Amino acid sequence: MAFLWVFVCVALAGTAYGQSCGIPAIKPVISGYARIVNGEEAVSGSWPWQVSLQTQSGWHFCGGSLISDQWVVTAAHCGVSTSVRVILGEHDRCSSEETIQTVSVSAVFRNPGYNSNTINNDITLLKLSTRVNFTDRISKVCLPASSDNFTGGMLCVTSGWGLTSPSASNTPCRLQQTALPLLTNTQCKSYWGSGITDMMICAGGAGATSCMGDSGGPLVCQQGSAWYLVGIVSWGSGSCPQKTPAVYSRITALVSWINQTIAAN
Ligand SMILES: *[C@@H]1O[C@H](CO)[C@@H](O)[C@H](O)[C@H]1NC(C)=O
Ligand SMILES: *[C@@H]1O[C@H](CO)[C@@H](O)[C@H](O)[C@H]1NC(C)=O
Ligand SMILES: *[C@@H]1O[C@H](CO)[C@@H](O)[C@H](O)[C@H]1NC(C)=O
Repeated sequence: MAFLWVFVCVALAGTAYGQSCGIPAIKPVISGYARIVNGEEAVSGSWPWQVSLQTQSGWHFCGGSLISDQWVVTAAHCGVSTSVRVILGEHDRCSSEETIQTVSVSAVFRNPGYNSNTINNDITLLKLSTRVNFTDRISKVCLPASSDNFTGGMLCVTSGWGLTSPSASNTPCRLQQTALPLLTNTQCKSYWGSGITDMMICAGGAGATSCMGDSGGPLVCQQGSAWYLVGIVSWGSGSCPQKTPAVYSRITALVSWINQTIAAN
């Protein structure tokens, strides 16, 4: 019996990363409104769905989020093609010591409603050419249901290797994170006007913000013990002011397109 129990236990452990979503094996530590601009370094491996999208020469240009062992979501405006390299399990981009997985992309699905003038429907799905192996540093984030409410004032987290200062010449080596509150769209329109659509959700304005290089990366909120993908870093002010909210693609409004696209491909 003991043998069987161990066997079952090992079998469960082996599949645990694949079955559950949104539960980092390495726990994130978030110090609240810490000082991506004005963010803080993440605990290495604690945002296991965070990916770096890089050119063949290794230049990081956008982030993304792993939503299954074969699909990544990013922003449409990142302009990803099948020549991109997807890096998983990375924390310090300047280190060659980390156990990363590098995969190529077999197909790119840009949301057909994406409009590069209004930045509406700013989402692209990447189908990976091979399935990734989930580890304690690589696992998927949960997708919300379209009816889920992520209300104004809720404290969420965004992560990325974007500029830590708009005047910085290089993106940081190590993954940065910041906690920031969601805004209602009514609140957000007081900053950005009628350009804020139902396909967008705003966050920030409280002393920390996303910036160049964070695009495509996750805005996640915790419900119960699991983290849900609520937004994709989309746009904001070019000077990344900490008092102005940034705009994210609203996943609850886009999750049916995500599901349909994955089911059909
Ligand atoms: C996953 O593991 C298998 C078996 O070790 C290996 O062949 C494959 O290359 C790994 N996949 C990635 C994306 O590293
Ligand atoms: C979400 O918000 C809407 C409108 O405020 C409300 O009708 C609905 O019951 C809420 N859903 C949940 C799951 O709380
Ligand atoms: C999308 O698919 C997931 C997993 O199959 C499911 O839980 C969710 O309800 C679906 N959401 C929508 C909006 O279809």
